[in-house]
Amino acid sequence: KNHQKGDPKTPLEPHVLIFPIPIQGPVNCFLKLAELLCLSGIYVTFLNTDHIHRPLLRHTNILSRFNRYPNFRFETIPDGVNFENPVSAANIKEVLEGANIVSKPIFREMMISGRLSKRSERPVTAMILDAFFGFAVEVGLETSTPVFCFQTISPCCSWTSFFNLPTLIEAGEVPFREEDMDKLVENVPGTQHLLRKRDLAGFCRLDDMSNGEVQRVLKEALLTPRTQGLIVNTFEELDALVLPYMRKLCPNIYPIGPLHSLHKVRILANTTQPQNISSNSVWKEDCTCLSWLDKHPPKTVVYVSIGSLAMMKFEQLLEIWYGLVNSGKPFLWVRRPGSISDGYDESHVPSELLDHTKEMGCIVDWAPQEDVLAHQAVGAFMTHSGWNSTMESIAVGVPMICWPYFYDQQVISRFVGEVWKVGVDIKDTCDRLIVEKAIRDMMDKNRDIFTQSAILWENLAKESISEAGSSSKSLARLVADIISLSS
Ligand code: UDX
Repeated sequence: KNHQKGDPKTPLEPHVLIFPIPIQGPVNCFLKLAELLCLSGIYVTFLNTDHIHRPLLRHTNILSRFNRYPNFRFETIPDGVNFENPVSAANIKEVLEGANIVSKPIFREMMISGRLSKRSERPVTAMILDAFFGFAVEVGLETSTPVFCFQTISPCCSWTSFFNLPTLIEAGEVPFREEDMDKLVENVPGTQHLLRKRDLAGFCRLDDMSNGEVQRVLKEALLTPRTQGLIVNTFEELDALVLPYMRKLCPNIYPIGPLHSLHKVRILANTTQPQNISSNSVWKEDCTCLSWLDKHPPKTVVYVSIGSLAMMKFEQLLEIWYGLVNSGKPFLWVRRPGSISDGYDESHVPSELLDHTKEMGCIVDWAPQEDVLAHQAVGAFMTHSGWNSTMESIAVGVPMICWPYFYDQQVISRFVGEVWKVGVDIKDTCDRLIVEKAIRDMMDKNRDIFTQSAILWENLAKESISEAGSSSKSLARLVADIISLSS
């Protein structure tokens, strides 16, 4: 039990320390959760590493949004990362290692000495830590403060490729050889005949299991069940296949997704300034694409984006480009600067592609994705199958063409195609004919089939965030648990 210093009978005010890994996707989710907790009257200290806080600070919308909450404050911690750009797959390792080496001792000292609590004159009564930040979870568990983990990646990956990774390694199923990619995975309970080895998380393809990424996952699989509870961005129905198994390891799971929808509904109910409420983007969104979309009839446009980390080669860009052009559908394509790994040189782009794009395409650096997906003109989403993008698409009933890049995306794309049946998985291929066929299938030939299942999931997602819905109840339970742990 926690009590105010000097008065053993006065319960402490609930004060949560939130600490995400310094990558845009997770920070975005953690900020949304933080805002929901603020609305429930809980004090929140949001700890960012310097690397991600700098671009966030430049984002005036975020600051003005959070300035509204007297019970919210940002704190920062050094991470030894010197470059300015938000992370991409090319430098993600450097950022995580920096945090591990530089932030870890500072965070430990901060928590063990109580320095952070003293600064706020309000002791921290609970922590919500990124399950991926093993060192932070370790430090949290060393203190007597209750720790919750928030896993912003997909539960389908979490179950198949995190919690089961030790079993898969022991059974000799991971690592695997290139020629075994299509063999079925046998040692993940609940997924019989579903997963081929190529559908396991990207890091399972590594030869060397002593690799830092694999070791981080193994650590997470051990630490997460030792915490107070696990918060996940999904809803009960969507992950009905894996949640019962995950609960055997972590009995206290809070599915609060789709988090961006739950967040939007709650903020709209509590604000008089609904403009641009949910953007936590560290890149500037080009909103001109919304007026471009306005010019198109319902469900005719293909939206293409590979999120904030994934990259592609110039050759792959051309294959996708030809696929889009040959499908005859108009397309809105996000080309994040720096996302073409071997560089983009327009003089090497065939003029037929450029000419066609002038008529049928719209290319932007970064889009207001939630608004784009919710736009009636969008009929298909060609995606890297990041978990946020997937949830955002499911929440508004847009079917997906999945072209996964790394990490949990290989698992998500399989679930999209085979479990939720809201898209096609074209992983490990990059061919103009396959892209064209997938688009035509989704938007013409099998349009009704995809639309039907997309609507089904959209409705279930909406139900889950309604007042009596499962995700609303989970959030209420989380808030109640945080409050009761501080009294
Ligand atoms: C990463 C991993 O890639 C992903 O696999 C994991 O599940 C979460 O962390 P990221 O690659 O950024 O995330 O993909 P995703 O999770 O889909 O998040 C992308 C976010 O950026 C989404 O919230 C999306 O709305 C936003 N976005 C994307 C924009 O706001 N504008 C864009 O133009 C593109």
